[in-house]
Amino acid sequence: MAGLALAACAVFFHLCLLLLLSSSSSLRLAAGGRGRTAYHFQPAKNWQNDPNGPMYHHGMYHFFYQYNPRGALWDIGNLSWGHSVSGDLVNWAALDTALDPTAPFDANGCWSGSATILPGGLAAILYTGIDANNEQVQNVAFPKNPSDPLLREWEKPAYNPVIAHPADVPGDKFRDPSTAWLGRDGLWRIAVSGEVDGVASTLVYRSKDFLRWERNAAPLHASHAAGMVECPDLFPVAEHGREGLNTSANGAAERHVLKLSVMDTLQDYYMVGRYDDATDTFSPEERERGDDCRNWRRLDYGHVYASKSFFDARKNRRVLWAWANESDSQADDVARGWSGIQTFPRKLWLDKDGKQLLQWPIEEIETLRRKRIGLRRGTKVEAGALLEIAGIASSQADVEVVFKLPSLEEAERLDPIWLLDPQKLCGEKGASVQGGVGPFGLIVLASGDLHEHTAVFFRVFKHHDKYKLLMCTDLTRSSTRAGVYKPPHGGFVDMDIEEHKRISLRTLIDHSVVESFGGGGRTCITARVYPEHAETGNDSHLYVFNNGTDAVKVSRLEAWELATATVNVVGDDGLVAPASGATRQSEA
Ligand SMILES: *[C@@H]1O[C@H](CO)[C@@H](O)[C@H](O)[C@H]1NC(C)=O
Ligand SMILES: *[C@@H]1O[C@H](CO)[C@@H](O)[C@H](O)[C@H]1NC(C)=O
Ligand SMILES: *[C@@H]1O[C@H](CO)[C@@H](O)[C@H](O)[C@H]1NC(C)=O
Ligand SMILES: *[C@@H]1O[C@H](CO)[C@@H](O)[C@H](O)[C@H]1NC(C)=O
Ligand SMILES: *[C@@H]1O[C@H](CO)[C@@H](O)[C@H](O)[C@H]1NC(C)=O
Repeated sequence: MAGLALAACAVFFHLCLLLLLSSSSSLRLAAGGRGRTAYHFQPAKNWQNDPNGPMYHHGMYHFFYQYNPRGALWDIGNLSWGHSVSGDLVNWAALDTALDPTAPFDANGCWSGSATILPGGLAAILYTGIDANNEQVQNVAFPKNPSDPLLREWEKPAYNPVIAHPADVPGDKFRDPSTAWLGRDGLWRIAVSGEVDGVASTLVYRSKDFLRWERNAAPLHASHAAGMVECPDLFPVAEHGREGLNTSANGAAERHVLKLSVMDTLQDYYMVGRYDDATDTFSPEERERGDDCRNWRRLDYGHVYASKSFFDARKNRRVLWAWANESDSQADDVARGWSGIQTFPRKLWLDKDGKQLLQWPIEEIETLRRKRIGLRRGTKVEAGALLEIAGIASSQADVEVVFKLPSLEEAERLDPIWLLDPQKLCGEKGASVQGGVGPFGLIVLASGDLHEHTAVFFRVFKHHDKYKLLMCTDLTRSSTRAGVYKPPHGGFVDMDIEEHKRISLRTLIDHSVVESFGGGGRTCITARVYPEHAETGNDSHLYVFNNGTDAVKVSRLEAWELATATVNVVGDDGLVAPASGATRQSEA
C-alpha cells in the first residue's frame, strides 16, 4: 500500500491525498449519531438508495449512488448521482454530485444506471433520465476532463437521450441500463428493464458507437407474472475458481448470472445460466424454477435491494453492492438527517454446484481489524447454553465461527409446506423456540441484561431421509423502540449438512446493520436493527448460544473489533479538503 501510495503521489496530487486518507483509519466507537454505521458506505447526510455505476478506473474506485442532496427522504422529482472515490473500497472521499436533473432529458431526476470503461480507457455512464414529460429515457454522460484522476465533473451531451422511451412500454416503466458488454460481432449491448404488454422484460439494446442503440426483438428474459422488474445485472462467472471476469467475457468455461430486482417483493433474485450473444437471450440453468424470477434464488434473505456488481480489474474479482434501507419511520430518517446504507462490498463467485453464487466480504475489511479474541477449539455448547465472547467492543465487529454438529439424530421433522416459505418458518421458530439440532448461532448487539438482542442462527430439519439446514436472523428482540419493522429473515442453506456435519457463519456487525454469511456465503442475510442500549452509551455484548437439545461444538471462533473507516466524512461538497490532506501529508 505504501509503495502504491508513493507511486501514485508522484503521478497525481489528488490521488495521493486520497490514498493517504485511506490509511488513516482509527478506532472511533461513536460513529456519529443514532444508528450511524462505522464502516458501511453512507454519504455524510441525506437520502441514498440504489448503487450506481461502480467501477475501477485508472487506479481509483468510483462509487455513485441515488442521492437526494436536499434531504433525508426520497424525492421523486429530484434525484441526483452522489459520487465518492476510494483507493481501497473501504475508505471513501465524497465529491460533488456527478449528475443532477438539469437538462430536458433528465429534468425530473437522474435515476439509476451503470458505468462502462470503453476501449482506450474512457469511462462512460448510461443512466435513466426522467425527462421534462415525466417519461423514462436512457442517457449517456462522459467525464468533462478525462485526465482528471477523480473524474469530478460529468458532461451530459445535448444529443441525449440516446434511447427514447419505446412506444410499447409505459412511460414510467423503462429504466436502469446495465454495464455494457461486447458481443463477438463487436457490437455493444446493454440490458434495460421495460414492461412490454404488461410483461416484465429485460430488453437488450445493441450499438456500434455507444450513441445509436437498437433494440433486439427478443428480450433477454421475460418474467410473465412478476410485475415490474428493475436494475438488471448480467455478468459472467467462471465455472471454476473465484476469479471474476470482465463483463464482456463469454467463453466455454463460463456461465452467466442474471440478477433482477422485483418491485412487487422489493427483493433481488438471480439465476445462473447461459447467455447467447448471437440471439441475445439467456437460458436458465435451473429450468424447474420457471421464468417467474420470484422463484429464482435470493441474493440476500434480508433487507437489500437494487444490487449492482462490477468487475474489479485491480484484483480480478467481481464485487457486488446493494442498498439496505432503514427499517424505522420517515420521521426517524428526518431526525437523523440521513437514510440508507450500502452493504459492505462482497466478492462473488460461482459455487462448485454450478447453480448458486457464493458471496463474501472483500478481503480489505481485514485492514480494519483491531483487537481479536477467540474461543478454544472444540468448545462444547451444551443444550440451553449461552457463552459470552467478551473482551472486544462488539458493536462494530467481524465474527467468524464454525459449528460442528456431532449428531443430527434430534433434528425436527419438516412439514413440506415450509419448503416454500423459509421466512415464515423463521418467524414461527425463532431463537427462543427450542428445537433438536438448533437453534444455535450468535447473539449480537445484546444489552447487558439481554433484553435487547439480535440472533443469527441455524436449525436442522429432517425431510424424508434428507436434512434441510435453515438459517435465520431473528429481529423480534433487536430493539425496544416502538415502530421498527422487524420481519422474519431467513432462507435454507443449499449444502449437504449430513455430509459436512459443520456449518460456518460470518457476521459483520456495524451499529444498525447485521450482515451474515452462512455456509461460506451460500445464504446471506442483511438485517437493519436499532438497539436502544447502544444509543444510551451501554456496551453491546456478543454470545454463542444453543437452544437445541443436542450439544454442538465450536471448531473455530474468531472475532475482531473493527476500526471506523473514513467514509465521506469531509462533507457532501468538500472533495478531499486540502487542509486535511496537507496535514496528513506532513505526517506521512
Ligand atoms: C426539486 O427541488 C427544487 C429545489 O428544492 C424544488 O424547487 C422543485 O420543486 C423540486 N422538484 C420536484 C419535481 O420536486
Ligand atoms: C475480457 O475477458 C476476456 C476473457 O478473459 C478477454 O478475452 C478480453 O480481452 C477481456 N476484455 C477486456 C476489455 O478486458
Ligand atoms: C424499506 O423498509 C421498509 C420498512 O421500513 C420496508 O417495508 C420496505 O420494503 C423497504 N424497501 C426496500 C426497497 O427495501
Ligand atoms: C432459549 O429458549 C428459552 C426458552 O424458550 C428462552 O427463554 C431463551 O431466551 C432462548 N434463548 C435465546 C438466545 O433466544
Ligand atoms: C444501561 O442499561 C441499564 C439497563 O440495562 C439502564 O438502566 C442504564 O440506564 C443504561 N446506562 C446508560 C448509561 O444508559
